[in-house]
Amino acid sequence: MTEQVYPVPAELKRDALIDKDRYQALYRQSVEDPDTFWAEQAEEFLTWQQKWHTVSKSDLNRGEVAWFLGGKLNVSVNCIDRHLAKRAEQTAIIWEGDDPADDQLISYQQLHTEVCRLANVLRERGVKKGDRVCLYMPMIPEACYAMLACTRIGAVHSVVFGGFSPDALKDRINDADCQVLITADEGLRGGKKVPLKANADKALANCPNVHTCLVVKRTGGDIDWNGKRDIWYRDAVEAAPEQCEPEWMDAEDPLFILYTSGSTGQPKGVLHTTGGYLLQAAMTHKYVFDYREGEVYWCTADVGWVTGHSYIVYGPLANGATSLMFEGVPTYPDASRCWQVVDKHGVNSFYTAPTAVRALMGAGDEFVTRTSRKSLRILGSVGEPINPEAWEWYYRVVGDERSPIMDTWWQTETGAHMMTPLPGAIDLKPGSCTVPFFGVQPVLLDAEGNEVEGAGEGSLAIKASWPSQLRTVYGDHQRCIDTYYSTYPGYYFTGDGARRDADGYYWITGRVDDVLNVSGHRMGTAEVESALVLHEQVAEAAVVGYPHDIKGQGIYAYVTLMEGAEPSDELKKALIQQCVQEIGAIAKPDIIQWAPGLPKTRSGKIMRRILRKIAANELDSLGDTSTLADPGVVDDLIGNRVNR
Ligand code: PRX
Repeated sequence: MTEQVYPVPAELKRDALIDKDRYQALYRQSVEDPDTFWAEQAEEFLTWQQKWHTVSKSDLNRGEVAWFLGGKLNVSVNCIDRHLAKRAEQTAIIWEGDDPADDQLISYQQLHTEVCRLANVLRERGVKKGDRVCLYMPMIPEACYAMLACTRIGAVHSVVFGGFSPDALKDRINDADCQVLITADEGLRGGKKVPLKANADKALANCPNVHTCLVVKRTGGDIDWNGKRDIWYRDAVEAAPEQCEPEWMDAEDPLFILYTSGSTGQPKGVLHTTGGYLLQAAMTHKYVFDYREGEVYWCTADVGWVTGHSYIVYGPLANGATSLMFEGVPTYPDASRCWQVVDKHGVNSFYTAPTAVRALMGAGDEFVTRTSRKSLRILGSVGEPINPEAWEWYYRVVGDERSPIMDTWWQTETGAHMMTPLPGAIDLKPGSCTVPFFGVQPVLLDAEGNEVEGAGEGSLAIKASWPSQLRTVYGDHQRCIDTYYSTYPGYYFTGDGARRDADGYYWITGRVDDVLNVSGHRMGTAEVESALVLHEQVAEAAVVGYPHDIKGQGIYAYVTLMEGAEPSDELKKALIQQCVQEIGAIAKPDIIQWAPGLPKTRSGKIMRRILRKIAANELDSLGDTSTLADPGVVDDLIGNRVNR
């Protein structure tokens, strides 16, 4: 980690929305008198139908969090209707298709019509306030319409990433008891088709409560049709009225569920509510990207992840911004695509993940330097630690040393940015997410749960509630308490480790639990292990992450076969296929090592620490292996390590 400092550029120091003094003053107010601070922000950023009576009420010991109690608002009204007087004709969404010749501009007026019509269709199909609707969509404008249409009528959306398998989709639909699914015939990414409807058909075969499946025609490919359940999206929407009365929601009414992985068990349905979430998404979008009226803002995430929720849809649209939505991948037709899109649409802020930066860096500078990129003002990074080498390249080659990089640390559970620089206020250090956003009080805890003072390292926890905090794990509040609030009573525990330097800057060191971060996608080792052991020839599996040049972390699986089963390349392929089938392509192990035995303690617990060291080739620091039931296992694993 370098400690080189990149000061705030002079121009931004002069005219950014927040400068250093203002950051310090506002931060102080936000932690000393949070209710006054957040009440002021809630007035400034959102339009309320009815004002709250209590700003906040929380008890972190019980995982109870509430903001703006008694307040009423509607998210679609905040993201669309209230902008119409001034920006009906302004572009709300620039859609850039997979094929560079394919794009579309959607004005706020058009967005209003699309969202209201779809909301009417949903109402007509019996969807009411509080009902759950599942979205399994490609990156097309209808994904955005569908999210907002749910909010219009108070339905709770659960977006499932289009790369998940039919099984994973089925589990999520059933866990949230969704009764309507919105999908497309096929998705299109990098010239390849993604069989969304075929996957949905497989999933729905085991989802008895889904009565309606709305299908967007994206490619026109051949699909099966269930006349009792399936409806063409366009036909339904075109027959629906263009006005739809919004449902006024309590600030604490659920807004969406988003499944995310933890160290144990099945993915959890993280639940976010209406007022606090929207406020923090909007406020961070404006200040972290120093967003000015009329600018074009592009976040490359998929709407299937929280970054897409908060920074393609809700934050930007709440601010009346122009948000670019990209269907494709950064390397198609070639590695110049992102910068061509930047030039084509005059993009001012560009927000992506380190894995994309590393992949593009590997393709060579020429793909970047042949484009202008002069519209770019602010760059962003999210999802995993950005290594200083990738940071420097992003800054120097992509940003021409003009655009500061906002390295934003946050999580599905936090809903919005938690630690991040602000362009006009915070000097940068490559690899550090720098300092907390307003209202966020990070602490580092030692093994005894005591707060580390000054420079030091520890488990990263948050000491006081913030508005966009998760409210519960859908259907299982105890699991929410167990996961986030019982490790360190009185704190929200992030699952990350971090270091704080003498300047008070934070450096995320990675997860301290059994959660992997592969290309910025979060995955539980337990999920991959469960997929592997489903194969009839597998007796046991242990999965760990290892450093990977492009993905950040790769998946390393140690597999013990059943008595009599023979290791083979075919079997490896079958196991990889098993993970694709159970979870999706993102869960493919990069390396499978046959392991006749696994390092276990005498009580039978697998010592993952040792497996991680072997996978990372860090054989000098294996630590004490004498407490293992059979220390000889380790030599065997080292001897049969897979070369890469
Ligand atoms: O480990 C941290 C890492 O991603 C985790 C959260 O993953 P997820 O809920 O999928 O949300 C990703 C998008 C917000 C965190 O616990 N992470 C996220 N952002 C950063 C990061 N690690 C280091 N630096 C970041 N900027």
